[in-house]
Amino acid sequence: KETKDQLVIDAGQKHFGATMCKSCGMIYTASNPEDELQHVQHHHRFLEGIKYAGWKKERVVAEFWDGKIVLVLSHDPSYAIRKVEDVQELVDYELGFQQVVPRCPNRTKTFLFISDEKKVVGCLIAEPIKQAFRVLSEPTVPESPSSKECHRAWQCSDVPEPAICGISRIWVFRLKRRKRIARRLVDTLRNCFMFGCFLSTNEIAFSDPTPDGKLFATKYCNT
Ligand code: ACO
Ligand code: ZN
Repeated sequence: KETKDQLVIDAGQKHFGATMCKSCGMIYTASNPEDELQHVQHHHRFLEGIKYAGWKKERVVAEFWDGKIVLVLSHDPSYAIRKVEDVQELVDYELGFQQVVPRCPNRTKTFLFISDEKKVVGCLIAEPIKQAFRVLSEPTVPESPSSKECHRAWQCSDVPEPAICGISRIWVFRLKRRKRIARRLVDTLRNCFMFGCFLSTNEIAFSDPTPDGKLFATKYCNT
């Protein structure tokens, strides 16, 4: 439901009766009982998932006036791994990923942006890679805007280029977007992924970007 509403909003249409919840960010039709029920369920799960009480041993890799970035590695204590799994589940739900992928495999690095309200408002999951394929200029024109597949049908070059770090997920809480949280997550990743060097934008690759992801990546890599 949420994904569908999002697409309607993305298309720039006015959806009569659509409301956005000021705490969980879900867009739903308040007059529709089915929608309302779905919202209540999402609301509790979401707020529980992003709650961050603070850990005794946390790896703070960057600090800002409005929050901090914590790095979680696969061998970290189970409370940290569990939080990463909860957040990834919310992110995958929002991105429309159905399949449950093995969470936090060995070489995965997860960066969580923690707001000063003690909530996880951003998440970046990265893993080492050897090569990537450049996305060619413009996406193929989607036939029907309602199909999600069409939105992801970018054309990729078939020439592999060397890369070091793959971003498998990047996500920012809907109500905190356009505050440079994603940018700060990627800056921090470039600084921390390999000890002692700052990765260039050519050495990082975004996997299967969404329209939002592509807009961000294009902007980020040009600046
Ligand atoms: N439309 C146009 N430009 C954008 C957008 C957008 N939706 N998002 C970011 N940009 C550009 C802007 O130029 C922006 O700078 P400005 O605000 O000064 O103009 C610049 O990128 C930096 O943006 P940030 O504020 O750092 O990005 P934000 O914190 O809002 O997060 C993100 C961007 C992660 C894509 C967010 O919109 C999101 O979570 N979307 C939903 C999940 C998603 O689609 N994630 C990407 C999946 S692809 C993958 O995971 C590999
Ligand atoms: Zn809500």
